[in-house]
Amino acid sequence: MNEKRKIVLVGTGSVGMSMAYSFMTTGGLDELVLIDVNKEKAIGEAMDLQHGLPYARHNMVIKAGEYSDCKGAQIVVITAGVTQRPDETRLDLTARDTVILKDVTENVMKSGFDGIIVVASNPVDGMAYVAQKVSGLPSHRVIGTGTLLDTARLRFMMSEYLTVSTSNIHAYIMGEHGDTSFVPWNNAYIGCKPLLELLDEKKRDLSDLHDIYTQVQQAGYEIVKRKHSTYYGIGLSLNRLVQAILNDDNIILTVSAYQNGEYGHEGLYIGVPAVINREGVREIIKIDLNEVDQAKFDKSCETLKEINQNAID
Ligand code: LAC
Repeated sequence: MNEKRKIVLVGTGSVGMSMAYSFMTTGGLDELVLIDVNKEKAIGEAMDLQHGLPYARHNMVIKAGEYSDCKGAQIVVITAGVTQRPDETRLDLTARDTVILKDVTENVMKSGFDGIIVVASNPVDGMAYVAQKVSGLPSHRVIGTGTLLDTARLRFMMSEYLTVSTSNIHAYIMGEHGDTSFVPWNNAYIGCKPLLELLDEKKRDLSDLHDIYTQVQQAGYEIVKRKHSTYYGIGLSLNRLVQAILNDDNIILTVSAYQNGEYGHEGLYIGVPAVINREGVREIIKIDLNEVDQAKFDKSCETLKEINQNAID
């Protein structure tokens, strides 16, 4: 009998509940426990999802719970945090969300939890760092959503631009989940063909790529400006990451992973392509960055190291 696929979600706001709801249609969980500082909200969300179970992909246990429910869960997903205002960057949330992440992580670990922590709270690179420091879990078992959503946005926009399925767009956003992210374009492929060669053939202008990246970088702000927060894209990104762990997929995803020098930096979390399986981050994929991209990566790391210094060190 396979291990029960049990996850705990801490934070029943729009991001967490978008992930929770997505599992009703994708399936993949045997048990989902909802925890929120507002217990009544968690109970209401659990009831609302339970009532949809007759029409869900398959049955599963859904309930509002306590931190004691984390013991025995494979994954704890943390989405708890403050909502970014239109005039704020994700980094502006650091001080407030650090307090929340410390409290949540301490409570998770008091339960005897010994699985994998997935963090989506922003600024996610800094919050993954806080969760790892406070939990004391091995660094490969604390994973931030990183540039998973940014990469999905890039693949969507490239798919529209080239009229090619997103499944053939192999391009990554790396770095901070924020303003200092970048695309290593010389490592982008359309199917098995280098993107830059394809653009050459189509006599396409490289400035189009810069425009596409800018749209990706600004996407979060553009959505927050119009609907006050983002949640479907990040909710589905969380679903993909959780399933990659539970199903032992060994899939390459651009998550916020702890750096051990693979790209010349150590001791921080930042978005890089990494192989994800039931152990968490199996390995970080080291792609050859040219000088310009390495400089962008270095700048992103320096930004995050400074944030970490102020937040928890
Ligand atoms: C965004 C949030 C998840 O980029 O930071 O939509």
